[in-house]
Amino acid sequence: MRGLLITLEGPDGSGKTTQAEALVAYLRQKGLQVVMTREPGGTAISEQIRNILLDKQNQMMDNMTEALLYAASRAQHVAEVIQPALEEGKIVVCDRFLDSSIVYQGIARGLGLEAVQKINEFAVRGCMPDITFLLKIPPRAGLERKYNQGNRDRLESESIDFHEQVYQGYQILEAKEPERIKGIDAGKAPEEVHLEIIRWVEKKLKERGKS
Ligand code: TYD
Repeated sequence: MRGLLITLEGPDGSGKTTQAEALVAYLRQKGLQVVMTREPGGTAISEQIRNILLDKQNQMMDNMTEALLYAASRAQHVAEVIQPALEEGKIVVCDRFLDSSIVYQGIARGLGLEAVQKINEFAVRGCMPDITFLLKIPPRAGLERKYNQGNRDRLESESIDFHEQVYQGYQILEAKEPERIKGIDAGKAPEEVHLEIIRWVEKKLKERGKS
């Protein structure tokens, strides 16, 4: 039986990575086979594309180039890691996936939600998340967390206005797909956020007869 694709989304500094790690530890403790991965990246080729995308020297990058590079990185990631793991019945936990492109490139960069969705549907060839956790944190709070951690990459160096658009963009997606996208207040204690995520995942596992 096909495995489960769980993705985590949210603005920079929303604590996705911490939550992804906690979720993976929880699932492994239950004896389930889990692959943890992230975007942009997750394969050698995708990590090379990631370096181009996040390099602060690349200020000249055209918005369309950016959108296509994220999609290219994703196409490789799906083909090499995500799809094979799902076919083996594994659970894949992915830190960011196509919703990031729809929000960052489609909405915040202004390329258009539908256009970016199309490029990405082509890239993922039907491989869609079963459930997506959206960690909601207002842009200023998220960026403060990030800046306190040190160096900013190309995207993190964008204006507060850009990050405000990202925040709004995620709310649009959440309203569009409430069945798949579960919004969680990331201002709460990490343990509380973790428990909320676990609750939804357990529900999904039951539906799949995996729990
Ligand atoms: P990452 O370093 O994983 O940042 P974070 O720790 O905040 O998740 O992601 C790099 C940046 O790339 C992040 O600012 C969001 C951006 N991004 C896009 O613009 N489009 C995409 O499709 C993806 C996956 C990420």
